[in-house]
Formats: sequence, structure tokens, C-alpha cells
Amino acid sequence: MQSVGITGTGSYLPENILTNADLEKIVDTKDDWIASRTGIKERHIAPKEMPVSELCYQAGLRALEDARVAPEEVDLIIVATMTPDYAFPATACLVADRLGAKKAAAFDLEAACTGFIFAIATASQFVATGMYKTVLVIGGETMSKILNWEDRSTCILFGDGAGAAVLQAVQKGFGFLSFELGSDGSGGKLLSQPAGGSKCPASLETVEKNLHTLQMEGREVYKFAVRIMGDVSVKVLEKAGLRKEDVDLFVPHQANTRIIDAAVKRLGISPDKVVINLDKYGNMSAAAIPVALDEAVKAGRLAEGDTIVMVGFGAGLTWGACVLKWTKVGLKA
Ligand code: COA
Repeated sequence: MQSVGITGTGSYLPENILTNADLEKIVDTKDDWIASRTGIKERHIAPKEMPVSELCYQAGLRALEDARVAPEEVDLIIVATMTPDYAFPATACLVADRLGAKKAAAFDLEAACTGFIFAIATASQFVATGMYKTVLVIGGETMSKILNWEDRSTCILFGDGAGAAVLQAVQKGFGFLSFELGSDGSGGKLLSQPAGGSKCPASLETVEKNLHTLQMEGREVYKFAVRIMGDVSVKVLEKAGLRKEDVDLFVPHQANTRIIDAAVKRLGISPDKVVINLDKYGNMSAAAIPVALDEAVKAGRLAEGDTIVMVGFGAGLTWGACVLKWTKVGLKA
């Protein structure tokens, strides 16, 4: 099997920023409550007319430029999203067309906030087996479009954005060392968008009842998240044959600083190794991890040979993690 790594990253955030103070004017909430319970101070919100494919296109383009790969060289595009432009066609197909990635196969993958981890795990198999040389993986969300802006327990949590990574073959010993993925459908009701699918097709009634918006049992999701983030991080490190001392950078899903703190404590790593940007962006679901990774790369927080753990959780319920030995040097074709 070929070793597979990330040879380029990119991200894109829509310009418009919604602060906690702005939210105070929309729902009965306080900046202090949001900041102390979640760590979130502001989030980016896409304009009404901007679909998620636009965010994904921008992030994908930047990742390709970073990896010095032309769109025509891309073999496969996977978009992880739960807020696609349409139920079909797949957002990945629209992005491929915008990019001019003429030879690329393209599909969407839905694992909610864990989507990016599931997508890189999937993408890496294609490169590891030699079926494809270059895969573009994008996590993008326009969460603002599926929120109930009258529900203070959910609308304060999320934001819009997209992050992307180019996966290619790398030197042995580098790239992905282990993956750990899981799901538990019995917890599906804890976090869902009930209407619009085949179980509850769109109707006047579903719109009136607000069933096209995100519904969540926050406390239950919180308990699950605290447990799973620590567990899966420990497991994925063990699978790679590494110890907590080996971790140079921890890139967790950006939902809540209290959830991240609990995982960091469980793993026993130093807080200065943790990437946190949810104060600026809120929870961007599948976009959270790739945006955090891209920002860490651009901020110079990663050196050749560093060990990264990325870990996420989300609706499904789903969870996933990977260990990555960092190099941006792809093998010559
Ligand atoms: N502003 C002010 N008060 C709010 C509020 C808001 N935005 N949202 C909820 N409240 C109130 C509640 O009504 C409740 O009031 P009550 O005690 O009078 O009933 C009180 O604050 C406490 O609510 P609770 O839900 O217990 O708060 P919490 O400490 O569990 O924090 C979350 C709420 C949502 C921040 C927390 O549960 C969480 O982060 N859950 C995980 C969510 C998540 O990560 N989802 C994405 C998964 S990918």
C-alpha cells in the first residue's frame, strides 16, 4: 500500500460576521452566556444567495494552488457536507465543474460534523491502492441556512465556511498512520433535520412546524461528545503505535471549548498543542477541522515530521479520528 498524505490545504470564510452582540438583538441571549458555555464569540454567515458549492469551490481552489496541482490533474473530488446545494445533483459535481476538474469523479459524503474525517479516510483508500493519484477533499457547510433563528439553544452555535485538503502519495513513514471511524444510529434523533427527506417530505405543514431546521438535544450531545472525543483520540494513537507524548498538534472538531478541554485532559496533552478557532467561527460542522488545519499550516504551527491527531464527532451519531505524520512533499508521479 502507498503512504498517503496531505500535500495542500485551503479554506474560505464568507465575509459577513455575526457577533454574539448581534445575536442579542435576534434572540433572548447574552454574549456572556454564549462565550462562557461554548467559547464562541462570533461566526461567519454566507449571504442568502451564496450556496455551499461557492464556499467549497473557493476552499478547493486554494488547496489546489497550495499543492501546486492543476484542476485537470484531480482524479476525484469528495465534498463532505450536510447542507448541500441540492439533494441532487451532488455538490461535489458542481464544484468539479466550477474548478474545471474535467477528469475527476465526484461525490458527496454525509457524516455530519465528522464528515471531513470520513472523507479523508475514504479518499486515502483510493490513493493507497493506486487507483487514483490526486484526490481533493472538501468539508463545507452553510449551517446558517438550516438554523431556526428563533431557537436560542441552537442558532448561537453554528457558522458557515469551507476547508479543503489535497491527498497524494507521500514518502513511506509519512502521511496517515491510522484512522478510527464509528457510528451509532440509535442516537440519530439527538441531532437531526427532520424534514425534507423521504421520511418526511417537504409540505406546508413541515415548513410551518420548522422541521427543516436543525433540532438538537444539546445536553445529550454534550455528554456523548465529551466521552467520545477522548476515547477515539486515545484509540487512534494506540492504533498508530504512538503515545500522547508523540503528539505535536491536536486538531479537534470545533463545537465547544468545554468539550475540547475535556478531550485534551483525557488525552493528557499540553493545551498549547491544541488548535482552537471556534471563538471566531462557531461550529462549522464538516468545515471545522479542515479550516482549523489550514489555519495551523498557514500560521507555521506544523513542521515536517510532526504528528497530528485530528478528531471529530457529530450527528448520526458519528465519530472519527486520524493520526497524520506531516509532510507536504508529494511523491513525483
Ligand atoms: N442564551 C441564554 N440562555 C440559554 C441559551 C442561550 N443562547 N440557550 C439555552 N439557554 C438556557 C436554557 O434555556 C436553560 O435554561 P433553564 O435552566 O431555565 O431551562 C439554561 O440556559 C441551561 O441550558 P442547558 O441546555 O443545560 O445548557 P448547557 O450548559 O448544556 O449548554 C449547550 C448548552 C448547547 C452549549 C451544550 O449543551 C452543548 O454544547 N452541547 C453540545 C452541542 C454540540 O456540540 N452540538 C454540535 C455537535 S457536532
